Amino acid sequence: MHRIKGQFDLSGKVAIVTGASKGIGESIARGLAEFGASVVVSSRKQEAVDAVAAAFRADGLEATGIACHVGDPEQLDQLVDATLAKYGGVDILVNNAATNPTFGPLAEADPGAFDKIMNVNVKAPMVLANRCKPIMEQRGGGSVINIASVEGMKPSPGLGMYSVSKSALIMLTQSQAKEWGVDNIRANAICPGLIQTKFSAALWQNEAILKQVEAHLPAGRMAQPDEMAGLALFLASDASAYCTGGVFTADGGHMIAG
Ligand SMILES: NC(=O)c1ccc[n+]([C@@H]2O[C@H](COP(=O)([O-])OP(=O)(O)OC[C@H]3O[C@@H](n4cnc5c(N)ncnc54)[C@H](OP(=O)(O)O)[C@@H]3O)[C@@H](O)[C@H]2O)c1
Repeated sequence: MHRIKGQFDLSGKVAIVTGASKGIGESIARGLAEFGASVVVSSRKQEAVDAVAAAFRADGLEATGIACHVGDPEQLDQLVDATLAKYGGVDILVNNAATNPTFGPLAEADPGAFDKIMNVNVKAPMVLANRCKPIMEQRGGGSVINIASVEGMKPSPGLGMYSVSKSALIMLTQSQAKEWGVDNIRANAICPGLIQTKFSAALWQNEAILKQVEAHLPAGRMAQPDEMAGLALFLASDASAYCTGGVFTADGGHMIAG
Protein backbone atom coordinates (compact mmCIF):
# COMPACT_ATOMS: atom_id res chain seq x y z
CA MET A 1 0.00 0.00 0.00
CA HIS A 2 1.36 3.42 -0.93
CA ARG A 3 1.14 6.34 1.46
CA ILE A 4 -1.76 8.62 0.62
CA LYS A 5 -0.98 11.68 2.77
CA GLY A 6 1.68 12.99 0.36
CA GLN A 7 -0.85 13.17 -2.47
CA PHE A 8 -2.11 16.44 -1.02
CA ASP A 9 1.34 18.03 -0.97
CA LEU A 10 1.57 21.11 -3.22
CA SER A 11 5.25 21.89 -2.63
CA GLY A 12 6.81 23.41 -5.75
CA LYS A 13 3.41 24.27 -7.25
CA VAL A 14 2.25 27.76 -8.17
CA ALA A 15 -1.41 28.72 -7.79
CA ILE A 16 -3.39 31.75 -8.92
CA VAL A 17 -6.61 32.40 -7.01
CA THR A 18 -8.87 35.19 -8.28
CA GLY A 19 -11.20 36.97 -5.87
CA ALA A 20 -8.92 35.98 -3.02
CA SER A 21 -8.98 39.12 -0.87
CA LYS A 22 -11.83 37.70 1.20
CA GLY A 23 -14.47 35.01 1.48
CA ILE A 24 -14.16 31.67 -0.27
CA GLY A 25 -11.18 32.76 -2.40
CA GLU A 26 -9.14 33.81 0.63
CA SER A 27 -9.85 30.50 2.38
CA ILE A 28 -8.91 28.48 -0.70
CA ALA A 29 -5.72 30.52 -1.19
CA ARG A 30 -4.74 29.91 2.43
CA GLY A 31 -5.47 26.19 2.14
CA LEU A 32 -3.30 25.83 -0.97
CA ALA A 33 -0.49 27.81 0.65
CA GLU A 34 -0.68 25.76 3.87
CA PHE A 35 -0.14 22.63 1.78
CA GLY A 36 2.99 24.08 0.18
CA ALA A 37 1.94 26.04 -2.91
CA SER A 38 3.24 29.49 -3.76
CA VAL A 39 0.02 31.44 -4.08
CA VAL A 40 -0.88 34.53 -6.07
CA VAL A 41 -3.67 36.26 -4.17
CA SER A 42 -5.63 38.36 -6.65
CA SER A 43 -8.62 40.71 -6.59
CA ARG A 44 -9.35 44.20 -7.91
CA LYS A 45 -7.73 46.04 -5.01
CA GLN A 46 -3.95 45.95 -4.59
CA GLU A 47 -4.17 47.05 -0.95
CA ALA A 48 -6.58 44.25 -0.13
CA VAL A 49 -4.50 41.51 -1.77
CA ASP A 50 -1.30 42.88 -0.24
CA ALA A 51 -2.89 42.62 3.21
CA VAL A 52 -3.97 39.00 2.69
CA ALA A 53 -0.61 37.97 1.22
CA ALA A 54 1.21 39.67 4.10
CA ALA A 55 -0.95 37.80 6.63
CA PHE A 56 -0.12 34.50 4.89
CA ARG A 57 3.60 35.31 4.88
CA ALA A 58 3.42 36.19 8.57
CA ASP A 59 2.31 32.58 9.09
CA GLY A 60 5.31 31.28 7.16
CA LEU A 61 3.44 30.73 3.87
CA GLU A 62 4.52 31.84 0.38
CA ALA A 63 2.14 34.38 -1.18
CA THR A 64 2.10 37.51 -3.30
CA GLY A 65 -0.72 39.95 -3.98
CA ILE A 66 -1.33 40.91 -7.62
CA ALA A 67 -4.34 43.10 -8.42
CA CYS A 68 -6.51 42.21 -11.41
CA HIS A 69 -10.07 43.05 -12.46
CA VAL A 70 -10.94 39.78 -14.20
CA GLY A 71 -13.38 41.54 -16.53
CA ASP A 72 -10.47 43.31 -18.24
CA PRO A 73 -8.50 40.99 -20.60
CA GLU A 74 -5.43 43.25 -20.42
CA GLN A 75 -5.35 42.88 -16.65
CA LEU A 76 -5.68 39.10 -17.03
CA ASP A 77 -2.57 39.16 -19.22
CA GLN A 78 -0.77 41.29 -16.64
CA LEU A 79 -1.78 38.88 -13.87
CA VAL A 80 -0.22 35.94 -15.70
CA ASP A 81 2.88 37.93 -16.70
CA ALA A 82 3.43 39.10 -13.12
CA THR A 83 2.94 35.53 -11.84
CA LEU A 84 5.54 34.25 -14.29
CA ALA A 85 7.94 37.02 -13.29
CA LYS A 86 7.51 36.19 -9.60
CA TYR A 87 7.20 32.39 -9.55
CA GLY A 88 8.17 31.21 -13.06
CA GLY A 89 5.00 29.25 -13.87
CA VAL A 90 1.41 28.32 -13.06
CA ASP A 91 0.18 24.85 -12.06
CA ILE A 92 -3.16 25.60 -10.40
CA LEU A 93 -5.76 28.16 -11.44
CA VAL A 94 -8.76 28.84 -9.22
CA ASN A 95 -11.33 30.97 -11.07
CA ASN A 96 -13.22 32.23 -8.05
CA ALA A 97 -14.01 35.92 -8.68
CA ALA A 98 -17.61 36.53 -9.72
CA THR A 99 -20.27 39.17 -9.74
CA ASN A 100 -24.02 39.32 -9.23
CA PRO A 101 -25.07 42.95 -9.48
CA THR A 102 -28.82 42.32 -9.73
CA PHE A 103 -31.59 40.44 -7.99
CA GLY A 104 -35.01 40.16 -9.60
CA PRO A 105 -37.21 38.44 -12.16
CA LEU A 106 -35.73 37.45 -15.53
CA ALA A 107 -38.58 39.23 -17.31
CA GLU A 108 -37.11 42.50 -16.04
CA ALA A 109 -33.48 41.55 -16.75
CA ASP A 110 -31.24 44.37 -17.89
CA PRO A 111 -29.24 43.23 -20.95
CA GLY A 112 -26.32 45.40 -19.82
CA ALA A 113 -26.20 43.61 -16.46
CA PHE A 114 -26.35 40.28 -18.30
CA ASP A 115 -23.28 41.24 -20.35
CA LYS A 116 -21.40 42.24 -17.19
CA ILE A 117 -22.27 39.01 -15.38
CA MET A 118 -21.30 36.83 -18.35
CA ASN A 119 -18.08 38.79 -18.87
CA VAL A 120 -16.87 38.37 -15.28
CA ASN A 121 -18.37 34.95 -14.43
CA VAL A 122 -17.80 33.06 -17.70
CA LYS A 123 -15.63 34.87 -20.24
CA ALA A 124 -12.92 35.83 -17.73
CA PRO A 125 -12.45 32.25 -16.43
CA MET A 126 -12.17 31.05 -20.03
CA VAL A 127 -9.68 33.74 -21.09
CA LEU A 128 -7.54 33.33 -17.98
CA ALA A 129 -7.48 29.54 -18.28
CA ASN A 130 -6.56 29.83 -21.97
CA ARG A 131 -3.69 32.10 -21.01
CA CYS A 132 -2.48 29.60 -18.37
CA LYS A 133 -2.93 26.47 -20.48
CA PRO A 134 0.33 26.57 -22.50
CA ILE A 135 2.25 27.31 -19.30
CA MET A 136 0.68 24.32 -17.53
CA GLU A 137 1.33 22.19 -20.61
CA GLN A 138 5.03 23.07 -20.53
CA ARG A 139 5.14 22.03 -16.88
CA GLY A 140 3.59 18.64 -17.62
CA GLY A 141 0.02 19.42 -16.58
CA GLY A 142 -2.14 21.41 -14.23
CA SER A 143 -5.45 21.83 -12.48
CA VAL A 144 -8.18 24.36 -13.26
CA ILE A 145 -10.82 24.80 -10.58
CA ASN A 146 -13.86 26.88 -11.46
CA ILE A 147 -16.01 28.08 -8.57
CA ALA A 148 -19.55 27.71 -9.89
CA SER A 149 -22.62 27.39 -7.65
CA VAL A 150 -25.59 25.15 -6.95
CA GLU A 151 -27.41 27.95 -8.78
CA GLY A 152 -25.83 26.59 -11.97
CA MET A 153 -27.79 23.35 -11.54
CA LYS A 154 -30.94 24.34 -9.62
CA PRO A 155 -32.07 27.95 -10.04
CA SER A 156 -33.58 30.05 -7.27
CA PRO A 157 -36.08 32.83 -7.94
CA GLY A 158 -34.48 36.23 -8.45
CA LEU A 159 -31.06 34.87 -9.37
CA GLY A 160 -31.82 33.95 -13.00
CA MET A 161 -28.96 35.68 -14.81
CA TYR A 162 -26.46 34.55 -12.16
CA SER A 163 -27.74 30.97 -12.49
CA VAL A 164 -27.31 31.12 -16.27
CA SER A 165 -23.71 32.29 -15.82
CA LYS A 166 -22.86 29.52 -13.35
CA SER A 167 -24.44 26.90 -15.58
CA ALA A 168 -22.26 28.17 -18.44
CA LEU A 169 -19.22 27.99 -16.15
CA ILE A 170 -19.98 24.33 -15.43
CA MET A 171 -20.10 23.63 -19.17
CA LEU A 172 -16.88 25.61 -19.68
CA THR A 173 -15.29 23.34 -17.05
CA GLN A 174 -16.44 20.18 -18.78
CA SER A 175 -15.33 21.45 -22.20
CA GLN A 176 -11.90 22.33 -20.78
CA ALA A 177 -11.66 18.88 -19.23
CA LYS A 178 -12.56 17.20 -22.50
CA GLU A 179 -10.15 19.20 -24.65
CA TRP A 180 -7.23 19.44 -22.21
CA GLY A 181 -7.08 15.94 -20.74
CA VAL A 182 -4.58 15.05 -23.46
CA ASP A 183 -2.24 17.68 -21.98
CA ASN A 184 -2.71 16.34 -18.44
CA ILE A 185 -4.66 19.46 -17.49
CA ARG A 186 -7.67 18.65 -15.35
CA ALA A 187 -10.69 20.94 -14.92
CA ASN A 188 -13.31 20.61 -12.21
CA ALA A 189 -16.11 22.77 -10.84
CA ILE A 190 -17.02 23.39 -7.22
CA CYS A 191 -20.64 24.28 -6.54
CA PRO A 192 -21.01 25.87 -3.12
CA GLY A 193 -24.39 26.26 -1.46
CA LEU A 194 -24.99 29.20 0.89
CA ILE A 195 -21.69 30.38 2.38
CA GLN A 196 -21.53 33.29 4.83
CA THR A 197 -19.64 35.95 2.85
CA LYS A 198 -20.18 39.52 1.72
CA PHE A 199 -21.33 38.19 -1.67
CA SER A 200 -24.33 36.37 -0.17
CA ALA A 201 -25.11 38.89 2.60
CA ALA A 202 -28.48 39.84 1.05
CA LEU A 203 -29.58 36.23 1.67
CA TRP A 204 -28.20 35.45 5.16
CA GLN A 205 -28.79 38.92 6.61
CA ASN A 206 -32.49 38.49 5.85
CA GLU A 207 -33.73 36.50 8.84
CA ALA A 208 -36.75 35.06 7.02
CA ILE A 209 -34.63 33.78 4.12
CA LEU A 210 -31.96 32.37 6.44
CA LYS A 211 -34.56 30.50 8.51
CA GLN A 212 -36.08 29.05 5.33
CA VAL A 213 -32.66 27.93 4.07
CA GLU A 214 -31.74 26.34 7.40
CA ALA A 215 -35.04 24.48 7.59
CA HIS A 216 -34.60 23.11 4.05
CA LEU A 217 -30.97 21.98 4.31
CA PRO A 218 -30.00 18.51 5.56
CA ALA A 219 -27.00 20.22 7.21
CA GLY A 220 -29.41 22.66 8.91
CA ARG A 221 -27.08 25.64 8.49
CA MET A 222 -25.14 27.74 6.02
CA ALA A 223 -21.36 27.22 5.74
CA GLN A 224 -18.26 29.26 6.53
CA PRO A 225 -15.76 30.01 3.73
CA ASP A 226 -13.11 27.73 5.28
CA GLU A 227 -15.39 24.77 4.62
CA MET A 228 -14.74 25.17 0.87
CA ALA A 229 -10.94 24.95 1.16
CA GLY A 230 -10.59 21.17 1.59
CA LEU A 231 -12.42 20.37 -1.63
CA ALA A 232 -10.32 22.90 -3.55
CA LEU A 233 -7.15 21.44 -2.04
CA PHE A 234 -8.24 17.97 -3.14
CA LEU A 235 -8.94 19.16 -6.70
CA ALA A 236 -5.65 21.09 -6.88
CA SER A 237 -3.56 18.14 -5.76
CA ASP A 238 -2.55 14.69 -6.97
CA ALA A 239 -5.18 13.26 -4.62
CA SER A 240 -7.68 14.02 -7.42
CA ALA A 241 -5.42 12.80 -10.26
CA TYR A 242 -8.30 10.83 -11.82
CA CYS A 243 -10.93 13.57 -11.40
CA THR A 244 -11.62 15.75 -14.39
CA GLY A 245 -14.81 17.27 -15.73
CA GLY A 246 -16.31 16.78 -12.27
CA VAL A 247 -18.98 18.95 -10.73
CA PHE A 248 -18.58 18.80 -6.95
CA THR A 249 -21.18 20.21 -4.59
CA ALA A 250 -20.33 21.57 -1.14
CA ASP A 251 -23.84 22.64 -0.26
CA GLY A 252 -25.02 21.09 3.01
CA GLY A 253 -27.30 18.85 0.94
CA HIS A 254 -29.11 21.63 -0.93
CA MET A 255 -29.24 19.60 -4.16
CA ILE A 256 -31.02 16.69 -2.49
CA ALA A 257 -33.24 18.76 -0.22
CA GLY A 258 -36.94 19.45 -0.43
N1 LIG B 1 -21.17 33.02 -0.85
C1 LIG B 1 -21.99 32.12 -1.36
O1 LIG B 1 -23.02 31.76 -0.78
C2 LIG B 1 -21.65 31.50 -2.69
C3 LIG B 1 -22.44 30.42 -3.12
C4 LIG B 1 -22.15 29.81 -4.32
C5 LIG B 1 -21.10 30.27 -5.08
N2 LIG B 1 -20.35 31.32 -4.65
C6 LIG B 1 -19.25 31.74 -5.51
O2 LIG B 1 -18.05 31.80 -4.75
C7 LIG B 1 -17.16 32.74 -5.32
C8 LIG B 1 -16.61 33.66 -4.25
O3 LIG B 1 -17.66 34.34 -3.63
P1 LIG B 1 -17.62 34.82 -2.12
O4 LIG B 1 -18.94 34.49 -1.55
O5 LIG B 1 -16.40 34.33 -1.45
O6 LIG B 1 -17.55 36.41 -2.32
P2 LIG B 1 -16.87 37.60 -1.48
O7 LIG B 1 -16.58 37.20 -0.08
O8 LIG B 1 -17.73 38.79 -1.71
O9 LIG B 1 -15.48 37.79 -2.24
C9 LIG B 1 -15.44 38.11 -3.58
C10 LIG B 1 -13.99 38.29 -4.00
O10 LIG B 1 -13.93 38.55 -5.40
C11 LIG B 1 -13.24 39.79 -5.61
N3 LIG B 1 -13.80 40.36 -6.83
C12 LIG B 1 -15.06 40.80 -7.04
N4 LIG B 1 -15.21 41.21 -8.31
C13 LIG B 1 -14.01 41.00 -8.92
C14 LIG B 1 -13.52 41.22 -10.23
N5 LIG B 1 -14.30 41.74 -11.18
N6 LIG B 1 -12.24 40.88 -10.50
C15 LIG B 1 -11.44 40.36 -9.56
N7 LIG B 1 -11.84 40.13 -8.29
C16 LIG B 1 -13.11 40.45 -7.98
C17 LIG B 1 -13.42 40.58 -4.32
O11 LIG B 1 -12.36 41.47 -4.01
P3 LIG B 1 -12.23 42.99 -4.57
O12 LIG B 1 -13.46 43.71 -4.13
O13 LIG B 1 -10.95 43.48 -3.94
O14 LIG B 1 -12.11 42.86 -6.05
C18 LIG B 1 -13.32 39.44 -3.30
O15 LIG B 1 -11.97 39.07 -3.09
C19 LIG B 1 -17.95 33.43 -6.44
O16 LIG B 1 -17.63 32.80 -7.66
C20 LIG B 1 -19.40 33.15 -6.09
O17 LIG B 1 -20.23 33.15 -7.21
C21 LIG B 1 -20.60 31.95 -3.47
